[in-house]
Amino acid sequence: MKIDELQAVVPTSNMGPYEQAYNNFQWEDVERHFTWYETGKVNMAHEAIDRHVEEGRGEKAALLYCDANRHETYTFSQLRASSNRFGNVLRKYGIGKGERVFIFMPRSPELVISMLGVLKVGAVVGPLFEAFMETAVKDRLQDSGAVALVTTPALLSRVKREELPELRHIFVVGNMDEREQGIIDFETEMLMSSEELEPEWLSREDGLIIHYTSGSTGKPKGVYHVQNAMIQHYYTGKMVLDLREDDVYWCTADPGWVTGTSYGIFAPWLNGATNVIRGGRFSPEDWYRTIERHEVTIWYSAPTAFRMLMSAGEQVVANYDLSSLRHVLSVGEPLNPEVVRWGWQVYGQRIHDTWWMTETGGQLICNYPELPIKPGSMGKPLPGIQAVILDDRGQVLPPNRMGHLAIRTPWPSMMNRIWNNPDKFQEYFRFPDWYVSGDSAYMDEDGYFWFQGRIDDVINSSGERIGPFEVESKLLEHPAIAEAGVIGKPDTVRGEIIKAFVALRDGYTASEALQQDIYRFVKEGLSAHAAPREIEFKEKLPKTRSGKIMRRVLKAWELNLPTGDLSTIED
Ligand code: PRX
Repeated sequence: MKIDELQAVVPTSNMGPYEQAYNNFQWEDVERHFTWYETGKVNMAHEAIDRHVEEGRGEKAALLYCDANRHETYTFSQLRASSNRFGNVLRKYGIGKGERVFIFMPRSPELVISMLGVLKVGAVVGPLFEAFMETAVKDRLQDSGAVALVTTPALLSRVKREELPELRHIFVVGNMDEREQGIIDFETEMLMSSEELEPEWLSREDGLIIHYTSGSTGKPKGVYHVQNAMIQHYYTGKMVLDLREDDVYWCTADPGWVTGTSYGIFAPWLNGATNVIRGGRFSPEDWYRTIERHEVTIWYSAPTAFRMLMSAGEQVVANYDLSSLRHVLSVGEPLNPEVVRWGWQVYGQRIHDTWWMTETGGQLICNYPELPIKPGSMGKPLPGIQAVILDDRGQVLPPNRMGHLAIRTPWPSMMNRIWNNPDKFQEYFRFPDWYVSGDSAYMDEDGYFWFQGRIDDVINSSGERIGPFEVESKLLEHPAIAEAGVIGKPDTVRGEIIKAFVALRDGYTASEALQQDIYRFVKEGLSAHAAPREIEFKEKLPKTRSGKIMRRVLKAWELNLPTGDLSTIED
């Protein structure tokens, strides 16, 4: 079945056609959309941008960028030309296929243009969220062996070049008072380079992007995706986002996170939609104004944002015309039924939950445009995806039993490796043929999946995934701290907040001032979103005999729950 026929079939409220589409689905039918299916010449930036120019859509608005100071429109032709320019700049400095080029800057047209330029020359792009501080930036650049970085004057001081011998070039977007050695002015180079460039032709197994994400142990992992992922980005853009030619689409996620690339850049442009990117911080008024001004038709955001909009109230909504909206989606954390009901009442829109992860590269379990929504459920696996619940031994469980949410391998956007860490990669595939997500869930008798929680200690605060280990490591660098354990504490707006339990070194006493100092220390050393909003001082932390902090005991303390099996505790 062709993808267009499939689309016609899936969005019916009748289960029959869903099953039919599901059973007849072939990934190959999606692949045929791409010319590389015949030619073997693959390049994401070409498919997302240049192809539209070649097919006569060059004058269509591709990017509508806005923030407090800038309102700019870029057509597909303009994005083609400017990304070619940056591709030429990179080639001039000898940067090419397979090398890692990181982008560390706030949302802006230049971020997008440099990302596309990196992809044009076949390099692997590594986006870094602008809130990252020194340690977080260094860890990621070091681990990936990045050879170049695009950043801004304001963020440059967080890049410790002396500890990054492999980082050869830094391109700076924006005026700097003094030029330092090894710093290249982005704008000057862009003006001097040509608008024409032959992209690097790749194979579908060549690199595309690295997103760093947190697990419960160890430093952040470099989740490495390859070009093949575009099949899933294109397909889910059609099937789940419901993108059509005349849509104005807005994904609120930052490209520092996977949603901001897979669905903030790739999916909308592979589908030729007009894509809104808004810079600046969250504000209900600015967000609604963005929808009104650009007549956004499809809006993809996250539960924390919807909850914050909800608490801003209905009166704010009444000041804006949101009637352009026709499809609203959510990702990243459990979407409360209450939020779904509110969206329906106030926006006249059902908010469609979608489930996936950095490692999966694209959406896997979703509420399709017209699949009847069961508020609180993540929806159903897409045609082409087989999702199950496994027990601890890897056996498939029947409906309504809670266990490990797992996906049959492979699918097009499945991560290709964890950079530099094959052992971590293998941990996801400990049961043959299954990718084990680390989430617990159950499936009901109608085939809908219901999220229950994380199986490991990973924290999800405002939809951002935070590894307790990274925060604990930073806390231990504070002179007053002897031991640290970090957990996610339930929070009505953010889903979870970060709570740290710390034991102090001799000579230090607990105080509010120390609490604030510790908070600031993590915020300034790692990032604001990883800083513990709550800090509790303890004499001693519960540890295993091998000295590992027992986070589950901390969590049980916090939630007043039984601490469970303590046979491995130190004393
Ligand atoms: O625990 C799940 C949660 O977010 C995790 C993935 O985080 P990250 O890799 O940062 O990707 C977020 C955006 C794709 C998952 O393991 N999560 C994601 N979507 C949902 C969710 N939890 C509940 N419901 C969802 N729809």
